[in-house]
Amino acid sequence: MSRLLLGACITVTMAVTAVACGGDPAPTTEGTVAGQSAAAARGERLARSQGCAGCHGGDFQGGAGPGWIGLAGSEVVLADGTVVVADDEYLTVAIADPNAQLREGYTLRMPANNLTDAEIADIVAYINSLADG
Ligand code: HEC
Repeated sequence: MSRLLLGACITVTMAVTAVACGGDPAPTTEGTVAGQSAAAARGERLARSQGCAGCHGGDFQGGAGPGWIGLAGSEVVLADGTVVVADDEYLTVAIADPNAQLREGYTLRMPANNLTDAEIADIVAYINSLADG
């Protein structure tokens, strides 16, 4: 039985994709991650088209700016030593008014942007979707 299944699985794998065999879906950068909400998908596209990835990392793992993986809901230390939780409100302000609350340890300043409130909400949804990443 299991050998039969395995054989079928290998055939399917070759024909389609490893996902059919219950493996982890391959990580994708296309905004097509299974279960990703429409808002998060829009947010990911915006974050790429608006140049955010240039500083926050091609996969938002961090670079000149802080990484977004696991950021939502975590505690961040601000330049004045205050510790805040990176909730929706914090993330929204961080994007809408980049110099309002500066993170400790970054001398680089994040540039202002012209994102609308709706676009910022989509990006926050995307950052939230990276919380367990
Ligand atoms: C020139 C580099 C640069 C670009 C481009 C940039 N950022 Fe940033 N970003 C930073 C730096 C540096 C920080 C940390 C300092 C601070 O708090 O401003 C930061 C902080 C943040 C934070 C808070 C993160 C945290 O860990 O507290 C968010 C959210 C954020 N950026 C989102 C964005 C979005 C969305 C865009 C695109 C519209 C963007 N950034 C573009 C450099 C950049």
